[in-house]
Amino acid sequence: MDETASTAASYHASHHASYPASLRLGALEIAPAVLLAPMESLTDLTFRRLLRAIGGVGLTCTEFVASEALIRDVPRVEEMALLDPSEKPAAIQIYGKKPASMAEAARRAVDLGAAVVDINMGCPARKVVAHSGGVALMRDPALVGAIVAAVRAAVSVPVTVKMRAGFDAASRNAVQIARICEDEGADGVTVHWRTRVDGFAGTLDLGPIADVRSALRIPVIGNGDVCDVASARRMFDQTGCQAVMVGRGAIRDPFLPLRIANDLAGLPPPVVEPERRLAFLLDYVDGIQARFRTEFGALGRIKKFCAYYTRGLPGGKALREKIFHAQDLGVVRDLVAAFFESAQNAWDGGGEAMEPLPGGVVCP
Ligand SMILES: Cc1cc2nc3c(=O)[nH]c(=O)nc-3n(C[C@H](O)[C@H](O)[C@H](O)COP(=O)(O)O)c2cc1C
Repeated sequence: MDETASTAASYHASHHASYPASLRLGALEIAPAVLLAPMESLTDLTFRRLLRAIGGVGLTCTEFVASEALIRDVPRVEEMALLDPSEKPAAIQIYGKKPASMAEAARRAVDLGAAVVDINMGCPARKVVAHSGGVALMRDPALVGAIVAAVRAAVSVPVTVKMRAGFDAASRNAVQIARICEDEGADGVTVHWRTRVDGFAGTLDLGPIADVRSALRIPVIGNGDVCDVASARRMFDQTGCQAVMVGRGAIRDPFLPLRIANDLAGLPPPVVEPERRLAFLLDYVDGIQARFRTEFGALGRIKKFCAYYTRGLPGGKALREKIFHAQDLGVVRDLVAAFFESAQNAWDGGGEAMEPLPGGVVCP
């Protein structure tokens, strides 16, 4: 159910005219201009399917997928690249450092249904950087050019690159890297304002995104700490970006993309009853259980998800701690059901309380 359009007639859209209604990547029109960030072990197929059912997201993206493993048919990795039929359009994100492997992986991504191939140049994870992938690529502009050119030549769908402001404070070279991406045929770039060294800390500085926006002709997607409607507006206002990408905030509140999309379109915010938050979490638990081979694996995934999802809920901290200690999925299900049953009376259905997210968040 997509609520974006349903109340259009009853609201004034005129003063929102400055916000983009859609994002154009090559020949692909993405509407609304709100994108889901790729997040390892969070934005899996189950989450994305449930998010799509809510609406408000113009493009969903897989977790990062290792190019070398994808082209070698490693089953666990291939599963990470699977898309749900409801994800139209969807991006598959690939990472690696060998242009030929990235090109081959991009072809595989398109075979698997990717409408967009996204190249990861932002991942700070040790296992990725140690192999010169992810954000480490930003220190090697020549290799960036070779990878984008190879991927560009391999597929006809739009190609995007996701990067950070730079590798560290001393090399904030997003403008240089983004120009190379554009010159080699990328259709858009996503810029997260932090550097690798910032981790999830750092003082909010959207300047690097604005700088890339001024330097490029292709669209720029702004990312980092968009956690509510105000911070989405701030991203558009301060950078001139053509779309926003939402990560952790969408796990805490899967209605966030819809809240932002409605705001951009001049629509009233969606009404989210506690039962819908309950239904989402129970559906998520069911979906994860169905996809994981072991209960242990499913529990770990659900606990990670709940570290975000319970933020900002009244009593969320106590629920989170109980779920962390749960030994089986039946217990998790009972805890969630009981929590939302009691929350229904106490909770007004808001969902924008600003209890910090793991990693911290710089909110207005
Ligand atoms: C748990 C986690 C996993 C992530 N995995 C990826 C990933 O696979 N690929 C990627 O490009 N970025 C990844 N990121 C970075 C996010 O895509 C995003 O750039 C970052 O979280 C900032 O956006 P946010 O403040 O809206 O969360 C990850 C972030 C988190 C918190």
